[in-house]
Amino acid sequence: MSQQTVQTHFINVILELLKNHDALNSVELAGKLGITHEKLYSLLLSIQALKLINIENKTENTYKLTQEGKIYIENGSPEFKFGQFAQSNPGMNPKQLVERFQNEIPSMYPVELPTKPDMLAKASFGKAKALGYIKLDKNNVQTGNLSCDKTQKALNCFEQGEQIPVKELQELTKRNLVTKVVTNWFSITKGEKYVESMDNVKKPIIDITEELIKSGEWKDVDFAPLNFDALGQKIPCGHEHPLLKIRQEFRQIFFQMGFEEMDTSNWVESSFWNFETLFLGQQHPCRDMQDTFFIEQPEFAKPIEDQEYFKRVKDMHERGGYGSIGLRYDFSEKVPLTNILRTHTTAISSRTLKHIADNFKNTGEIRPRRFFSIDRVYRNETLDATHLAEFHQVEGFVLDKNLSLGDLMNYIREFFSRIGLDDISFKPAYNPYTEPSMEIFAYHPGLKKTIEIGNSGIFRPEMLRPMDIPEEYSVIAWGFSLERPTMIEYGISEIRSLEGPNVSLDLIENVPLCRMTF
Ligand code: PHE
Repeated sequence: MSQQTVQTHFINVILELLKNHDALNSVELAGKLGITHEKLYSLLLSIQALKLINIENKTENTYKLTQEGKIYIENGSPEFKFGQFAQSNPGMNPKQLVERFQNEIPSMYPVELPTKPDMLAKASFGKAKALGYIKLDKNNVQTGNLSCDKTQKALNCFEQGEQIPVKELQELTKRNLVTKVVTNWFSITKGEKYVESMDNVKKPIIDITEELIKSGEWKDVDFAPLNFDALGQKIPCGHEHPLLKIRQEFRQIFFQMGFEEMDTSNWVESSFWNFETLFLGQQHPCRDMQDTFFIEQPEFAKPIEDQEYFKRVKDMHERGGYGSIGLRYDFSEKVPLTNILRTHTTAISSRTLKHIADNFKNTGEIRPRRFFSIDRVYRNETLDATHLAEFHQVEGFVLDKNLSLGDLMNYIREFFSRIGLDDISFKPAYNPYTEPSMEIFAYHPGLKKTIEIGNSGIFRPEMLRPMDIPEEYSVIAWGFSLERPTMIEYGISEIRSLEGPNVSLDLIENVPLCRMTF
């Protein structure tokens, strides 16, 4: 039979059944026809569209025994067993009795129970007391009334289909001995244009065709009503990851503000660009194994190309200069060559600034410039709901003459106001490569509280002078994570569903295509 004929056959069966019944139950009907409820539903919609039937949504709550409930019917409830156990082990205090009972539980039931023995033993003690199976005399457990296992009896009545008091049913449901089953079904009744068979129905026209128009037939035929409730077909297609969406929005904002994008393609970085150029001492705690990932192979990078610069960085660390006393320690020339996964994109800012300084040396040209980058960084963190060992950093800096802290605050305020965060505040902070430094806070209207969103400051002369950035220029800079605003924006509380091995494809497929807040 063709699909069409099968459909007509099913419809005829339904119409025929309605001849003798006031209403049909869709669940039973699907069983009778041997098709899924879903399939039946779409069939019903098409008959409803012809007004042959009416369908009405119904919800029904029923209750059924759980596996645990069945076990208690057969073997008795644990609280009753606790009463019996107390009877055969007289003179014990509750703690001893609960402990011994816990060990006995596995031998009392033929299968493992869903509740762990320690929890079950404690709960059984409480229930046995409440139901009068045991009594407490000072700290001594005494036997109570053990004439009937009330829980077993209630479960039995339930199984027999007897009406049991609502309170008892609630208690059994709470203990997960009985569970609520919600069934959604449709009641099917005769419609306005009900007929006993499809054979009597003139099939309405669904698509208007060229022939219908040419012949003028369209004037007389019945058109099927359009079904505006039909769900569109799900299109199998790719979905843009929320982090990439927000990254794209941030990039646009930076471009609008006149920033150039830095090349961030080197995830493996030498310690030199990640730490030493930033005037970060070789003993700094952030450089140990707890915080940084080291590369085993190759362990070391090639010597830094500009050896004169390397030497100037070394001098700056050891002795200082340009008014600074330096960090005053013996600088190892090997340590800067250690390969690591970059811990921040400030390594990239450093490379970019050095490039600008080199260009200045070669051409004598330097001008105010603004740069940004958004890419991955790695930190050896303990993973939890809000921390990952890899995340994305949003970094920006401005190179110009006469830059002040006020300019820095202004740039940051401007950037964040463009993503809808208008209430920005700052707190003095410490950063090895900026002075002064400020943490950035934002009031989040959705969360209704102020949260830390980033870090910023003015790059130290100890970092810029060895590069030969001219003295009259200074650099304001900031960094923050991409994950934090993304999670806030999409209301995601678990970072691991966004990145890493447990990424939730459902979440990525279902995040809204556009939001009105940014
Ligand atoms: N590198 C800093 C961090 O990882 C961010 C920052 C960038 C701070 C630039 C100041 C200036 O948190």
